[in-house]
Amino acid sequence: MATLDDIDLADLDQFTAGFPYRFFDVLRQDAPLWWHPPTAHTPGGEGFWVLSRYADIVAAAADAETFSSETGGDRAGGGTTLEDMPMEFAVGALLNMMDDPRHAQFRRLLTPSTTPRALRAIEDDLRRRTIDIVDAAIAKGECDFLIDVSAELPLQAVAELAGVPQADRHELMNWANVTLDYESREVGEINDRVAQAQARMFTYGTELLVRKRSEPPTTDLLSIVTHSLINDEPLSENEQRLFLSLIIAAGSETTRNSFAIGMAALSERPQTWERLRDNRDLLPSAVEELLRWASSTPYNRRTATRDIEMHGQRIKAGDKVSLWWASANRDETVFTDPYSFDIERNPNPHLAFGRGVHFCLGASLARMEMRVMFDVLLDRVASVTLTGPIEYVRSNKHSGVRHMPVTIQPRED
Ligand code: HEM
Repeated sequence: MATLDDIDLADLDQFTAGFPYRFFDVLRQDAPLWWHPPTAHTPGGEGFWVLSRYADIVAAAADAETFSSETGGDRAGGGTTLEDMPMEFAVGALLNMMDDPRHAQFRRLLTPSTTPRALRAIEDDLRRRTIDIVDAAIAKGECDFLIDVSAELPLQAVAELAGVPQADRHELMNWANVTLDYESREVGEINDRVAQAQARMFTYGTELLVRKRSEPPTTDLLSIVTHSLINDEPLSENEQRLFLSLIIAAGSETTRNSFAIGMAALSERPQTWERLRDNRDLLPSAVEELLRWASSTPYNRRTATRDIEMHGQRIKAGDKVSLWWASANRDETVFTDPYSFDIERNPNPHLAFGRGVHFCLGASLARMEMRVMFDVLLDRVASVTLTGPIEYVRSNKHSGVRHMPVTIQPRED
């Protein structure tokens, strides 16, 4: 069993074999509000608070005035990652690093295009795309489930929703991969590859937004962002451009990991696969369990805006506070037998999409993609077998899969 002394949540090497749930079993039990001491890896050489219990995370996420997604105290930067992001350039301009009231005004513009009802219009198209992706992987027989199956659909889906030309999506994915991959760099470090990818994205985004502005308004997210007003003013250039980066990264990187980690869980449990294949009415609850199981966004950070007492300790204004959704999703006081994978789990109030005002804007799209993807796989595939270890992205911000070698056996019946 791990001890508190073993834990360094900023040491990315601790995440290369998948999310280190064992640390959080200790934290939930012994240190529900833990002051993570500064280590060689903690950004800015600073410590931060760690919340690991479901109830505490829900309470903090519900109190966005105290736990800000921008900043607090006299901190110079802020945001929702452990490393401080610069004010104005990112914090306060990115939708997910913005507090109400502007956040609510911004988000309200986008909600109508992201409801299950609005998304029904693209479901048939996504199903057709999924069939093509899965058939191409079956034809290969041996493939990389992450590259050949998981990565494509979320990217195509988010390009559709955002109004990004499909022809450009690989350029964007390349950008997102480089930016989100922490191979050979530490949290908060920007190397040349990342700087170049960000510069290319900046130029691409600027040009695309100019084009969107010149076209008549539609319901795609970028059109909305370029044509809408908040308090009678257009959104700033920066807000518009950052929204494009956010939506591509948030929409492509997360869902593909839930596909891959979910598929690995199912491939290890052939009886569950068969049960699901023969009982498709279980698909919605299976999707929720796959989301809980994968918890592909492990944490988000907030900054305390005032001093607050919790578990007999004092969080001070300006302190970083991290909310570990992945840990909440294994909280034994909420989920019976949390380490068992149960496609009929009910209720399943997982926090894979967060909670509160920043609850995932793409949750309905992600749920739809998961439902369609596994439906198509169950229709066409007899089994998926791992032929080597899953290679994870070196990151504590995404439970990311880089490669997942498999053989795919088609259904014969
Ligand atoms: C399985 C897939 C996904 C997971 C696990 C996931 C997870 C999350 C989480 C945990 C948050 C909360 C962030 C916070 O509280 O600071 C969030 C927010 C967000 N997600 Fe997702 N997400 C997924 C898919 C998507 C997709 C497909 C899109 C885009 C179409 C998307 C767009 C966003 C956006 C824009 C926000 C910010 C919302 C706001 O601040 O109001 N996500 N997501």
